[in-house]
Order: sequence, then C-alpha cells, then structure tokens
Amino acid sequence: MTAAVAVVGAIDDLRRYVRARRAAGERIGLVPTMGALHAGHLSLVEAARRVADRVVVTIFVNPAQFGPNEDFARYPRTLAADVEKLANVAADLVFAPPVEAIYPPGFSTKVVMEGPALADLEDRFRPTHFSGVATVVTKLLNQAQADVAVFGEKDYQQLLVIKRLARDLDIATEILGARTLREADGLAMSSRNIYLSPKERERAKELHGALSEAARRILTGEDIGAATQAARARLAEVGFDVDYLEARCAETLAPVSSVDEGAIRLLAAAKLGATRLIDNIAVEFS
Ligand code: PAJ
Repeated sequence: MTAAVAVVGAIDDLRRYVRARRAAGERIGLVPTMGALHAGHLSLVEAARRVADRVVVTIFVNPAQFGPNEDFARYPRTLAADVEKLANVAADLVFAPPVEAIYPPGFSTKVVMEGPALADLEDRFRPTHFSGVATVVTKLLNQAQADVAVFGEKDYQQLLVIKRLARDLDIATEILGARTLREADGLAMSSRNIYLSPKERERAKELHGALSEAARRILTGEDIGAATQAARARLAEVGFDVDYLEARCAETLAPVSSVDEGAIRLLAAAKLGATRLIDNIAVEFS
C-alpha cells in the first residue's frame, strides 16, 4: 500500500501548499503534464525528486495548445489512474485544475514567442501550438512558484521554448530537461501511442531507428543533408508520412551543415495513419 496523494484544483490551494513547504525550508519541484501518464512522465517525477524535497505534478489538458483539427476532444483523460500512478512514485501533490480556473471568462493574454518557437519545425505544422504551450506554462510556473520544473527532451523544441521564456520573462524557477524514456523497441513513450493500431505500433519503432541510423552516419562523416534525406526516405518506405526530419543546432535549433558547428540534435515528426509521432536524438557517441 502506498500513501494516497492529495489532489487540488484551486490555484489558492496549490499556492498555500507551496508556501507552507517552502516556509519549512523545503525545495519544490514541478512536473507539468496533460495526464494520461506513462513511465516517461513518472521518470520526470523521479528526476524532480532528485533535486527537490517535494514534487508537485500538474495535470491539465490545455485547449490552447491544440489546433482546430487536432485531438483535444479525444485526448485521453484518465485522472483516477494517473493519481494512483503518482501515489506509487510518491508525488506529494497533484494540481488538476478545471479549464475555468486556468482560462476564466475575460482571459485576454497570450505569450507569443520568436526564437526556438519559430524554428520551422513543429511550428511549421502547428502554428498556434507554442503560444498555447508558452501561455499555460508561464501560468503554471507563476502559480506554483517552484524552485525547479522538469520537462522532457521528448518534446525538444518545447523544452527550448520553455527555457527561453523563463529567461526572457525573468521567471525564477530553474528549468531542467530530462531524457526520453523509450519502449523496448526504441519507440519514445507517448500518451498518443495508444492511438496506433497493432500494425502501426509495430512500424512505429522505425522512427527512432531512422533517427539513430542518421546519427550514426553523421558521426562516421557522412554529409548531414544526405544522412537526413536517407532517413526520410526510409520512413516513407515503411509507410510514414514525414512532416520533417532535420539536423539542427542543439542549443538554438538553427540549421546546421557540419558537425564542426557544435552539438547537433536530429528532430522528426511523422504520421502513421492518423497518428502523428515526434521524436529526437542527440548526435553523439553513446
Ligand atoms: P505531456 O505531453 O503530457 O508531457 C508532459 C511532460 O512529459 C513533458 O515535459 C514531456 O516532454 C514529457 N514526456 C513525454 N513523453 C516522455 C518520455 N517518453 N520520456 C520522458 N519525458 C516525456 O508536454 C506537455 O504535456 C504539455 O505541452 C505541457 C508542457 C504540460 C503544457 O501543457
């Protein structure tokens, strides 16, 4: 038996909790999520636990970051199961606000960014996505006033967007990135993997396979453009509809043409049937 974890939905209750724990000299870690939790999310809780005394997990399916033809309505909502998983990893508080608490009537402010939010990757296919993410994350960081917040490298462009906005808006919470947890065959864990049919699920591993192969080729001296082109072709061959697969500067997401330009990240998004998967890896010797 693990102890239950408290769930609150009001911003005041979240603030009261954080104030009390800080007054007791504790460090607070924050893990924002949209729920439908899997082991990848839980690994963020563990990462937060390593750098904080208390871990607060937020669960909020943020309407503002979904485009008009995206899956907001059918996004999995599994609060009871999520809370049980969080109790098992000894999270200290769950903040699961209703939509009206985050976007009350009259809400009029948006955080809209340039820089990593306009890298011509996710933003090319989801033009309003990062303003939705940046707005809600700014609010969650302001609401929680945590010492540190942990985000996954799985959403690499998102991680850079959040690091940038925290710097630009003088948000005192430290932003930490955590590595991507994968299934045994390499597929990055994602709440959207449940949309895949058994046949698609079998093929989905090719996304990580193609990225890994491109990274290997680049490390052995192959031209970056040729290696990424081969990876796109491999994905198309096994039935993916590739939105992008590109090599970028790991820090700024600027295009790169040579390994001499510094650390490189390979980023990709591709659809299998109706399901859009994203993934990325570092180009480095493992
Ligand atoms: P969500 O997709 O629920 O992801 C919550 C956090 O878990 C993000 O930081 C994401 O990068 C991380 N994550 C997802 N899959 C992971 C995996 N396989 N391994 C490690 N970490 C993983 O990202 C969002 O929600 C939202 O955009 C949010 C930041 C909560 C704002 O609404």
